[in-house]
Amino acid sequence: MIKKGNLYFPGKEFKKKALVKSAAIYKEAAKNPIRFWEKLAKGLFWYKKWKKVFSHQPPYFHWFSGGKINITADIFEENRAGWENVKNRVALIWEPEPLEGRERVFTYYQLLREVNRFANALLKLGVKKGDRVGIYLPMIPEVIVSMLACARIGAVHSVVFSAFSPNALRIRLQDTEAKVLITADGYYRRGKVINLKKQADEGVKGTKVRKMVVVKRAANKVEMKKGRDLWWSDIIEKESEKMQPRIMDAEDVLFILYTSGSTGKPKGTVHACGGYTVQAYWTTRWIFDLKPDDIFWSTADIGWITGHTYSCYGPLLNGASFIMFEGAPDWPSPDRWAQVIEKYGVTTFYTAPTAVRMFEKYGKKYLKKHKLDTLQILASVGEPIDAAAWHWYFKNVGKERCPLLDTWWQTETGGILITSLPGIGPFKPTFTGLPFPGTRFDILDEKGKSCPPGKQGSLVLLPPFAPGLLRGVYKNPEKYKKTYWSQYGERIYFTSDSAYKDRRGLIRIVGRMDDVIKVAGHRITTGELESAVNTHPEITESAVVGKKDEIKGEVPVVFVVYKGNKASEVVKKEVVLQVRKQIGPIALPKEVYLVEDLPKTRSGKIMRRILKKLLTGEKDLGDTSTLANPETIKKIKAVIKR
Ligand code: WTA
Repeated sequence: MIKKGNLYFPGKEFKKKALVKSAAIYKEAAKNPIRFWEKLAKGLFWYKKWKKVFSHQPPYFHWFSGGKINITADIFEENRAGWENVKNRVALIWEPEPLEGRERVFTYYQLLREVNRFANALLKLGVKKGDRVGIYLPMIPEVIVSMLACARIGAVHSVVFSAFSPNALRIRLQDTEAKVLITADGYYRRGKVINLKKQADEGVKGTKVRKMVVVKRAANKVEMKKGRDLWWSDIIEKESEKMQPRIMDAEDVLFILYTSGSTGKPKGTVHACGGYTVQAYWTTRWIFDLKPDDIFWSTADIGWITGHTYSCYGPLLNGASFIMFEGAPDWPSPDRWAQVIEKYGVTTFYTAPTAVRMFEKYGKKYLKKHKLDTLQILASVGEPIDAAAWHWYFKNVGKERCPLLDTWWQTETGGILITSLPGIGPFKPTFTGLPFPGTRFDILDEKGKSCPPGKQGSLVLLPPFAPGLLRGVYKNPEKYKKTYWSQYGERIYFTSDSAYKDRRGLIRIVGRMDDVIKVAGHRITTGELESAVNTHPEITESAVVGKKDEIKGEVPVVFVVYKGNKASEVVKKEVVLQVRKQIGPIALPKEVYLVEDLPKTRSGKIMRRILKKLLTGEKDLGDTSTLANPETIKKIKAVIKR
């Protein structure tokens, strides 16, 4: 990499081989974004060409209407790299958590056969086009097979992160009304077997699930309910390895993925077959500069959008080989990831800042044991990557040789929309980069005026948006309108992030403007945590705020108004347990404070920003003119100090 001031640019050698190397692409795309995306769409296989590229009936929009597609045909038989070339190429390498475990490798052809068998089995279970299928699986190849099998037959998959609690699973299954759930007996996490089936049994109570397909992974003891539960291996046994993909409309739903909502109820983001496919293919190709001999590793769990787009669809559409790892990054030792990179000669590594900070804390010595010289590109996602973590990652993992892409996007956007392209740059620590060609972002002040460089405002996406942007919130058009299309009217997509740009137009993300906190990259809202805490019978009220954390970025801190007479230590434990039960282990509160009252406005709204300032010990509490109960401040301060 070449350093110029505080910017980095790709070196000559890298540039020469890069798929995109000329900044002219930005100009070309900006001239006519709709035509630009149309050109990109032509790079994929369609059964029938679209009638209209982009249409807009605010707040709804469509891409490639009238076009006919199936994402699995683009992955397999009609792969743009040519089926004959791709067929016997490695698609997926799975690395189990136990060191003594065996890796599993699937070529494209093998994967296709597995997908077809399972797709045929799903049809036998009565799954039809448009039916929702719940997937509650850990990081094992069957999760990929399940997703692709659903896509193959036109069923809508809804993956639920395997570390979510039964309760969180139930809420999602109730919303999608899935009749079939795919799960596993168990999986390995930090040397232990987690009994996933037990959690699934609990989670399907009160839902419409009538069939549960169970993958045997950990051979732990599980109860199989007669008439409802089926072993994966049994139902695929006699199924044919052949099946024709169902031809889908571009605007048919490909999947629903839930993300935190402001109340306890998560929002189901709806993604469309055509637009998502086009965006997943091209963003993976250009941003990761993906070529046939690359080994791509995105460490994100499949339960999150990064897992969907970059640990599954994106690399597969490109005919690339990718890694899937079952376990924890530092198990059984802090060099596990470095070991995996070395073992498979990973070329492209995509992870979250929280992981980088964790490795930084462990120290360089764990990297030294391994050869990391196959790495070509590093990338980061999920939250702002601070300068220290950026430099550590760039220097110690990428040896100042690899471009470090800071990629910005959201569950809603379906794919990366802001980042520097590796063959062009520039890379500027703490700045994510430029909008992906063909997308138009702006930063607006409160009045909706465009902010000049250096001035912070709301990050928004302007028409024609992006083909992969969500098409709605499942069964909740009001929420869709209110969350994304109300701040600046129905023609401007509001991201909920605040940002500013520099003179070159590079964007720096400052953080969320709403009540979302990012705990180790996981997206959680304070409202969701509060609902979980409030189910405690003796807690009348609670407020959750995010507190800065060295490794996780942010951690939740809970203030509760407790009216019972248990010892405070007991209540604190119960609160943590409550969160574990309602949501899962990803969002456990770091601290719980028992207070008499919470700071509120006269209309009764909790003023979380004051709690946040009290936590950091800030003297200036900002505007407190609307505070109805100023006497609480002193008392809360005393509780925090204790
Ligand atoms: C944040 C993850 C800074 C942002 C793909 C966004 C980032 C939210 C970055 C979406 C980044 C994501 N720099 N912040 N590179 N990437 N974010 O839905 O606040 O889990 O709105 O999608 O993560 O989180 P989500």
